[in-house]
Amino acid sequence: MSTLSRLEKTLFRLQAQHACLAHAFAAIASRPGPVVELGLGLGRTFDHLRRHLPEREIHVFDRVNGAYEDCQPDPALLHLGEIEETVPALAGRLAGRVVLANADLGSHDRDCNRQLALEGFEEPPRPAGLREGCYYLYRRPA
Ligand SMILES: C[S@@+](CC[C@H](N)C(=O)[O-])C[C@H]1O[C@@H](n2cnc3c(N)ncnc32)[C@H](O)[C@@H]1O
Repeated sequence: MSTLSRLEKTLFRLQAQHACLAHAFAAIASRPGPVVELGLGLGRTFDHLRRHLPEREIHVFDRVNGAYEDCQPDPALLHLGEIEETVPALAGRLAGRVVLANADLGSHDRDCNRQLALEGFEEPPRPAGLREGCYYLYRRPA
């Protein structure tokens, strides 16, 4: 049995996500470009992104729209369907322009997450104090 309870795992994952996103917001502050949210879910992270990045175009992907009524994305920027199909379909519009992509597809698998991060990305130093294995940061080398 794991030394951490499910409650603790959830707590640490959310703390890590919050800290990683704060880190990313600072890192992209001087760089223009759209943002991508992979996995709308209930819309909690989308709500966080839009509050901290109010000027950004935020493209949101999910197979269904199950977001809270007050966390609804702009319908023009909501792409419903399997991301394996909807993301490539937007490549012409987004490729080379996206400054931040938050992947919250419900996978706890590091290898699966690494595949999503795409080739050529590196793992930058993580914000201090975060537990290993809760959330992952990737960056395209300058
Ligand atoms: C953990 S939830 C996202 C939570 C959300 N970020 C929030 O803050 O409420 C994962 C979401 O990813 C979506 N998802 C997982 N795999 C997907 C895929 N291959 N294509 C499209 N959506 C997918 C699921 O439908 C689900 O809504």
